Amino acid sequence: MITSETLKKKYIEFFLEHNHKRIANAPLIPENDPTALFISAGMHPLVPYLLGQPHPSGKRLVNVQKCLRTSDVDEVGDSFHLSFFEMLGNWSLGDYFKEESIKMSYEFLTRDKWLNIDPDKLSFTVFAGDEDSPRDMDSAKVWMELGVPEERIYYLPKEDNWWGPIGSTGPCGPDTEIFFDTGIQACSPDCQPGCNCGKYCEIWNNVFMEYNRTPDGKYELLEQKNVDTGMGVERTTAILQGKDNVYETEIFAPLVEAVKSLAGLEELEPSQVKSIRIIVEHARAATFLLAEGIVPLNTEQGYVLRRMIRKAIRHGKLLGVDDEFLSGLAEKVIETYSEDYPYLKENEETIISELKKEHKKFSNTLQKGLNRFNRMARKNKKISGKDAFLLYQSFGFPIEIIIELGEENDIPIDVDGFNAEFEKHQKVSRAGADKRFGSGLADHSEKTVRLHTATHLLNEALRKVLGDQVEQRGSNITPERLRFDFNFHRKVTKDELKQVEDLVNEQIKKAIPIEKCETTFEKAKEMGAQAVFEQRYGDKITVYSIGDFSMEVCSGPHVKNTKEIGHFRIKKEEGISAGVRRIRAVVE
Ligand code: ALA
Repeated sequence: MITSETLKKKYIEFFLEHNHKRIANAPLIPENDPTALFISAGMHPLVPYLLGQPHPSGKRLVNVQKCLRTSDVDEVGDSFHLSFFEMLGNWSLGDYFKEESIKMSYEFLTRDKWLNIDPDKLSFTVFAGDEDSPRDMDSAKVWMELGVPEERIYYLPKEDNWWGPIGSTGPCGPDTEIFFDTGIQACSPDCQPGCNCGKYCEIWNNVFMEYNRTPDGKYELLEQKNVDTGMGVERTTAILQGKDNVYETEIFAPLVEAVKSLAGLEELEPSQVKSIRIIVEHARAATFLLAEGIVPLNTEQGYVLRRMIRKAIRHGKLLGVDDEFLSGLAEKVIETYSEDYPYLKENEETIISELKKEHKKFSNTLQKGLNRFNRMARKNKKISGKDAFLLYQSFGFPIEIIIELGEENDIPIDVDGFNAEFEKHQKVSRAGADKRFGSGLADHSEKTVRLHTATHLLNEALRKVLGDQVEQRGSNITPERLRFDFNFHRKVTKDELKQVEDLVNEQIKKAIPIEKCETTFEKAKEMGAQAVFEQRYGDKITVYSIGDFSMEVCSGPHVKNTKEIGHFRIKKEEGISAGVRRIRAVVE
């Protein structure tokens, strides 16, 4: 039996044999893209290289990349959709294109030495063509040359056979997708690849990234023709093991068994199967998120995490499990993945304690909230926006749980009304959880701007105290605090933190005016400016300088003079993943 570990190994080996270089599995939280919450595909960290920047490892790359798709969180429970998953990917950056890519995929899938899948079980989709790009007859032709009968090639429109960009602009293109027939009964005579009933499982997607989507929605040809592929580890493992869902593989089976035994269940109703799937999937995703330093919150990544943990807790309750159980599942996840992801083990304590804390918080209000929901539903036969907001605010029910309760009980939920209430109360749309702010700053309030300038001072002070190798890995600023992630291999000592704090406060006291100049990215680098989001800048970029202390490429805004910042204080320093530290600080 091929396990997920063997699949990963074989994939890498195959592409190494075909002259690819293996690249790192990037953190789940994007390092260089403030517009996205999570890495959602292996190509995400490769955007600059798909746009033409030379990659240090060359033109043929391969890796295993962990991904999280918020769009799929609420699909979890069916046979194959996962929020968190591992993706196998190979890339050509202006090297091979359709023919070689498709031939390599076919070889890997069907040859004895590799996956040895029966070709008769495979179907293929290609792009049908539209005003932006022609029908992809080239790909269809290659499939046919390989012996695929015409009737197993389907031509589908952009919604199905086009991938990217991430966000609204960037590299994208038509794709050809490979489906495995699980052998289960088709849902209807029209069932075909692309249908989500579970008969056809998409296992691999080869994207021919030759376009750049521009801000005005046009598709321009890129200078280089790229290939970007993605194969889901869990799905492919399932089909290789003859399973029609991912939960029966060794990846999830021990977790499923653990939940069944906690709940004292043997024979399962379909709704219980679904609850168990949601619990184990969300437990795994939450473990990975917590290991990267995300904690349950009501905003951004923290909200996605909170919503998954709470949903898992509610489904535990549906199975009759009231006691805290997620930390036990997390321990199993850590065990399973400890070899590939050693930072899970390193962060085990935090993962366990955060899960316990969140369980305590939510279980206190869960039953009361459910009672309230039932009363509202009985009385009004619907849940108004105001009532939904009350469940959210007073009982900690994420709106997705309220929607789910509505579906289970056939009670309509006024989601628009909820959003209106939410905005009224919080002045921030919940959409903040699904998209981020373009400028990288959550708001431009006076406090946030002061913290933003303080972040530049901190960034430089860290380099002065810890060494030039220190680079920003992430930054997040709210009016209350700044959060700054950087690469460093060990804990920063108290003494060093004090030096950093003093250095920042010294610059503040010196009352240095902040200067701003426009230049090109290359000039800025020549001048020695720090820059994080290389690929994001257009021709003209802005450089902010603070005396001769700090110089950074940044889109602002900043205070006029450092004296406006106030007193800078570091509140916490911690490790968030292997080699990455996080500082939280405030200005008072
Ligand atoms: N980026 C492509 C996908 O995620 C391969 O499907």
